[in-house]
Amino acid sequence: MDVQLVRLSPSSEDDIGSVQEVLEDAPGYSVAVTGRPPADDDARSLFDELPPGSHREDKLVFAIRQGSRVVGCADVVVGYPEASTVFVGLLLVRERDQGHGIGAKAYELLEEQFRKRGLKKARLAVVETNPRALPFWERLGFVRTGERREYSCGEVSSSLVLLEKRIGGASRMEARTLVGHVSSGGATRDYARIIGEILTSRGHEVKIVDLKREKVDDLSPFDLVVVGMGVRMFMVYRKGKQFLSREDLKGKRVAVFLSSAMAIEDPEKAKERFLSPLIERHGLEPIMHDAFPGKMPVGGGKLQDRTDPEVARKWANALADRVES
Ligand SMILES: Cc1cc2nc3c(=O)[nH]c(=O)nc-3n(C[C@H](O)[C@H](O)[C@H](O)COP(=O)(O)O)c2cc1C
Repeated sequence: MDVQLVRLSPSSEDDIGSVQEVLEDAPGYSVAVTGRPPADDDARSLFDELPPGSHREDKLVFAIRQGSRVVGCADVVVGYPEASTVFVGLLLVRERDQGHGIGAKAYELLEEQFRKRGLKKARLAVVETNPRALPFWERLGFVRTGERREYSCGEVSSSLVLLEKRIGGASRMEARTLVGHVSSGGATRDYARIIGEILTSRGHEVKIVDLKREKVDDLSPFDLVVVGMGVRMFMVYRKGKQFLSREDLKGKRVAVFLSSAMAIEDPEKAKERFLSPLIERHGLEPIMHDAFPGKMPVGGGKLQDRTDPEVARKWANALADRVES
């Protein structure tokens, strides 16, 4: 596909004009994030706006060209919020040129430039009222960090969802990871799946095992072992405790999580009450151990789902960061 990126200059009226044309040829974006069609000075603002602490030379604006036609634009801020991170502000293709993979190709070209500059991570924020953005970036390997920010612009009040991608890292195998879970009500099993998804997207080779059904004879193929379990009647699930008592777990990189009703209100209390004593008893030194909100018994054998997938996403990303550092 004949797609190119051409760096634009903030002091060229022609360049500002070509960005303005793209914005006007993709009014759906502006309507989704501001509630109104593009304004006359939107392109100029795109060149001028900078996050706190950044300098004008950190902001790079590109035209996305197909042949000789400008079909889109992109802007990034290099070195924000950290020196080795690039923040992608906007990547937009004119509506009549959407649906042909131009955006994905443009991002690939951008990432190539980021890699050459020695950048390690790309980060961006998606406005939730822009529904096509999230699947687009996730298809390219971006992963939700678990962070959210309030967003308000014009008539639109929404949330920003933060995503990140390691530059050139998504296809690299970081660690062979076992995610074992012991679950009755399903909370721990669902958390294990989310953690597995995040670690996979971060380049880990992941095996998810239901420890109630399957025995893991050999831990030696795994560089990292994640174990999750629930608690009932103040007792952590037996199969979970058994797994933590394994001799071959000692000296391994381990991370442990618990699903519990107590953690709905007070995760630290649940961690100290149920997880810390177990970890101490078995002489483990996990990289991370935390309690997540589980399903609340509400009588009649019913459970109210109080789980929070964002907690697990954030946790898994923090775990991947530690393993990779
Ligand atoms: C019968 C029963 C007893 C429970 N006892 C506790 C408890 O003592 N402490 C607690 O924090 N959560 C308790 N819970 C909540 C569970 O920890 C919660 O449902 C969690 O999601 C269990 O994990 P699982 O869904 O993966 O099985 C109990 C739940 C049930 C159904």
